[in-house]
Amino acid sequence: MGTLDGRVALITGAGRGIGRQEALFFASEGAKVVVNDPGVTPEGTGGDAGVARAVAAEIRDAGGQAVASTDDVTDWDGARRMVQTAVETFGDLDVVVNNAAIHRRRALVNMTEDEFDAVLAVHLKGTFAVTRWAARHWRDQGDTRDRAVVNTVSASGLLLPGITQGNYAAAKAGIAALTTAHAVELARYGVRVNAVSPSMARTRLTEGVPGMSGPPDVPEMSGPPDGAFDPLDPALTAHVAAYLATPGCPVNGQVLAVRGTSVTVLNGWSAGESVTKDGAPWTVAELGEAMAALPRRDPLAEAVAMVGGSLGDGNRDKLLAMVDAMLADPR
Ligand SMILES: NC(=O)c1ccc[n+]([C@@H]2O[C@H](COP(=O)([O-])OP(=O)(O)OC[C@H]3O[C@@H](n4cnc5c(N)ncnc54)[C@H](O)[C@@H]3O)[C@@H](O)[C@H]2O)c1
Repeated sequence: MGTLDGRVALITGAGRGIGRQEALFFASEGAKVVVNDPGVTPEGTGGDAGVARAVAAEIRDAGGQAVASTDDVTDWDGARRMVQTAVETFGDLDVVVNNAAIHRRRALVNMTEDEFDAVLAVHLKGTFAVTRWAARHWRDQGDTRDRAVVNTVSASGLLLPGITQGNYAAAKAGIAALTTAHAVELARYGVRVNAVSPSMARTRLTEGVPGMSGPPDVPEMSGPPDGAFDPLDPALTAHVAAYLATPGCPVNGQVLAVRGTSVTVLNGWSAGESVTKDGAPWTVAELGEAMAALPRRDPLAEAVAMVGGSLGDGNRDKLLAMVDAMLADPR
């Protein structure tokens, strides 16, 4: 008996990387899966219907239940159709995993309007659109059976400044905000809303990041030899997403960072120290003086300490050199 027996799960971006592992793992735990993926490039161009179909076929070949969906999460009607596909094929919908992703890395001075809009559309609007149509379905059911939404965020935008990927970081911070808003709004329908924040999972999105490796076509297949434990395996995130999707899971409104087998509750923005003046507005000079005494964080120093530290000195320097090169790119 699986932990997700009979659950119907819609997983976006399930054709590759972490989403594919989620689809396979959910199915192995007994879920019926809508494998959504239009099969686009890492930048979100093109399309290949075979990508979602292959994962759905892999699940069925292993004795599970799955159907492919090639709709685009940025398409309002497409998002509605995904929910409809789950209901028409499997009779209901219990779980939504918002995982679809693209990236368009560029320093702010070089980033085009399209590069900004495209990333916001897939991550932020896509999460909103799919969850919104699922929420409509759940409200119309008129009961409060346990259902779950699992969003996907990133250290970029939450713990790291997202250098040369302000579009991605902003989208991910926005999804963290949607997670808490939706958790409160949907509790009345029995729906729990949480997020996973994967880190250093070997997929095509992390290809080229110092310390990561793997062939670009199927990077998730290139773990250590002989089945040794692989801390960069994208399947590790799938296990945490599955936990959040199980009926009766007590977690709601949380963001869980996943790194290898380490799972950390993220605390989000929190109030630090403050200055107050009684009964009158600050003058600019007064505020400047008072603020000088307040501790301030340095986002770059924190990012280097966090990422560089865990990669080792050699990779930290490579990372900084890569960021420098992107910031200096004259395009
Ligand atoms: N790999 C990591 O270490 C890492 C770190 C932090 C966050 N993440 C997040 O994890 C999630 C999965 O990333 P991944 O590394 O597996 O990436 P990936 O590129 O391997 O997979 C993403 C999938 O999303 C699909 N997709 C793209 N646009 C879509 C759209 N409009 N509609 C539906 N599907 C679409 C792609 O076709 C692709 O198959 C993303 O949300 C990503 O931001 C990953």
